[in-house]
Amino acid sequence: MHTFGVYIDGEWQQTPNILKVMNPVDNSTVGNVAKAGENEALAAVHAAQQALDSWSVTTAYERANLLKLWYEAIEQEKIDIAKTLTMEQGKPLKEAISEIDYANQFILWYAEEAKRVYGETIPSLDKSKRIIVNKKPIGVVAAITPWNFPAAMITRKVSPALAAGCTVVIKPSELTPLTAYRLVLLADKVGFPKGVINIVTGDPIKIGDIWLNDKRVRKITFTGSTPVGKYLMKGASYTVKKVSLELGGHAPTIVLKDADLDFAAETILAGKFRNAGQTCVCPNRIYVQKEVVEKFIDIFSKKAKKLVVGNGLDEGVDMGPLISDQAVHKVIKQVQDAVDKGATLIGELPGSRMVKPIILTNVNNEMRCMNEETFGPLAPIMSIEDEEEAIRLANNSEYGLAAYVFTSHLEKAFKLSEALEYGIVGINDTLPSIVQAPFGGMKQSGIGREGGHHGLDEFLEIQYVSMKLHS
Ligand code: SIN
Repeated sequence: MHTFGVYIDGEWQQTPNILKVMNPVDNSTVGNVAKAGENEALAAVHAAQQALDSWSVTTAYERANLLKLWYEAIEQEKIDIAKTLTMEQGKPLKEAISEIDYANQFILWYAEEAKRVYGETIPSLDKSKRIIVNKKPIGVVAAITPWNFPAAMITRKVSPALAAGCTVVIKPSELTPLTAYRLVLLADKVGFPKGVINIVTGDPIKIGDIWLNDKRVRKITFTGSTPVGKYLMKGASYTVKKVSLELGGHAPTIVLKDADLDFAAETILAGKFRNAGQTCVCPNRIYVQKEVVEKFIDIFSKKAKKLVVGNGLDEGVDMGPLISDQAVHKVIKQVQDAVDKGATLIGELPGSRMVKPIILTNVNNEMRCMNEETFGPLAPIMSIEDEEEAIRLANNSEYGLAAYVFTSHLEKAFKLSEALEYGIVGINDTLPSIVQAPFGGMKQSGIGREGGHHGLDEFLEIQYVSMKLHS
């Protein structure tokens, strides 16, 4: 079985230890990667710093050309990379293929956007002065990515960084590194200069600490849990690094009585059970206006029952396994807590990682499932009076990533989206992630935005030049 080495300064290097990558379906080994330690983490930064001088002064057109070649190389191998993704992460192959498409769109988008990094000239009060604003690459970027989107979270960070003229050190999750290594292998093949992209995997704390403490790393971009995000933010303060953090979410989903219920149920189902509920933006707490709650539950639960759970490589599977036993345990705990407090369970408690959709009704806001992120296929449905109550409950959270509203009333759509303290609001839409738009959260869901032109700004410094004309 192939063992990916770490990739540093354009070389694939083995290390004394390896990390086995397991299939969450049955714990079989699907591949190995070299286990990086502190030396490799440091060497990666060194290589990225060395490469920065020449990469940061390439033209946007040169960078765009390489990004496009990378995009084309991924496009050619996409089915095969998607199979790797399914085997290490669990999601159904059709979803893995969509993720590779989504991931690759970031590369194409930022190849184009690289050419649109415009500066400014600003009229001065002083006749003899000229004010010029330049944008410059921030420097070496450390990208730390999660297991739930092993391809898209890499390209969402790395392609704008490269487009901006930054060099990168990447640490994918040790649970799902193979997809990331395959992407980097293709970047190597299409000719990115050595040191521009480096990738290592290993003990996350050791590697993270090396990068946090190294003053040559000028930016940390991370997707993962809120506690880890806080740790990185604190650590980044010692060398005053810029941070972008895409953290947890607990998306409220409001269904008003004027909504098209069949459409709402279908759309919420698609968002809730995507990736077996293991996304930061999936509908997590569903608030339905009391007049239509029974009807909604009936439609939603009938649709949910039809979803097929199994090995993501098998035909006709809608949901794969959860990533770990710990993830299953968290779902069980939330269900038990809710049932103890009076909820009704539609479905069954899981006995393995193959967790079928679970619906909870007669839910109230005291239950854990309404207050903490789930990361599993659990859909609690609570009856609410009106939109005022919906807004109050939705905003009563430390999270502020995504929120959803289902209504056919234009004015209500506007009113609710303006009142919700969330970085992303989907109106009759639970799949808002798209490369052209800024993805990110308010409150403890994070800092910064990824995607769109906003995502490029995160990797740029602003420099103001004041010029005095003295003749
Ligand atoms: C995430 O769960 O962190 C990302 C989801 C997405 O991009 O849709």
